[in-house]
Amino acid sequence: MIRQAIIPLAGLGTRLLPLTSVFAKELLPMNGKPNIEYILDECIDAGIKEIIFIISNKKKMIKRYFYSDNFYKNIISKKKDKRIKHIYKKILKYKKMIKFVYQNKPLGTGDAVLKTKKYIKDKYFLMLLPDDLIIKKNCSKAMIKVHNTYNSSVMASMNVKKNTVSRWGIYKFGKKINTNNRIISDVLEKPSKKKAPSNSAVIGRYILPKKIFSIISKTKPGVGGEIHITDAIRQLIYRNEKFIAHKFLGKYLDCGSMDGYINSSKEISKL
Ligand code: UTP
Repeated sequence: MIRQAIIPLAGLGTRLLPLTSVFAKELLPMNGKPNIEYILDECIDAGIKEIIFIISNKKKMIKRYFYSDNFYKNIISKKKDKRIKHIYKKILKYKKMIKFVYQNKPLGTGDAVLKTKKYIKDKYFLMLLPDDLIIKKNCSKAMIKVHNTYNSSVMASMNVKKNTVSRWGIYKFGKKINTNNRIISDVLEKPSKKKAPSNSAVIGRYILPKKIFSIISKTKPGVGGEIHITDAIRQLIYRNEKFIAHKFLGKYLDCGSMDGYINSSKEISKL
């Protein structure tokens, strides 16, 4: 059973500058609702009971968003506004599920994951990257179903245009299980068009085994001097850990770049 999810939020968000010089990108509104709430709703609907946020001192604003009880209580006692009461109730529901851990130096996604080590209770956990929104179908829920059926690690996949492979993590596949699920035999970070083994890209939803923590602690910094989660995943694949790529049915929205954010907001407002 997958009961815990982790969400790395300690990155710098340089692609969304200047907004991110003063603001956490995960709180930017998409049709009036912060990006992170879409991610939380996906987790809740997928049956997740506890969510661990990896933040940094620079992104404490994210914690404040969920810990403004006195502010709400004051306003509610003065205004008796139904809408505010409803919002506060929703925030309280989220807050009860969230734990915060800190990664004050953005040393990479692998390093961010490592910060959650002592909080992970079960054999497997879910990780969601909030820059990747998936709408219309719950990707995490579908991946948990795959995990339950095959008792394996699972990662989300999506076909991308061949001339864009160098922007993505790209899968190399082994056996095909069925239309939407294939065994992963390798994953290459941002390969050239020539070297890419497929045009199937890694999207930010992962079901990972607890044993990844010991691998990350031995993982050396890779591309850009960062400790990448992909490098630790590769090591696990080489050690015969079963990883399945799940081609999800929902619609992918990129929220990590300025063009992506603008387009995602438009798409979400059409829902
Ligand atoms: P990215 O590297 O894609 O995004 O990290 P970023 O660092 O937030 O933004 P850019 O690239 O500078 O525009 C993917 C996810 O991993 C988190 C980020 O917050 C993001 O959700 N992350 C990244 C960490 O938590 N810690 C890190 O050291 C690096």
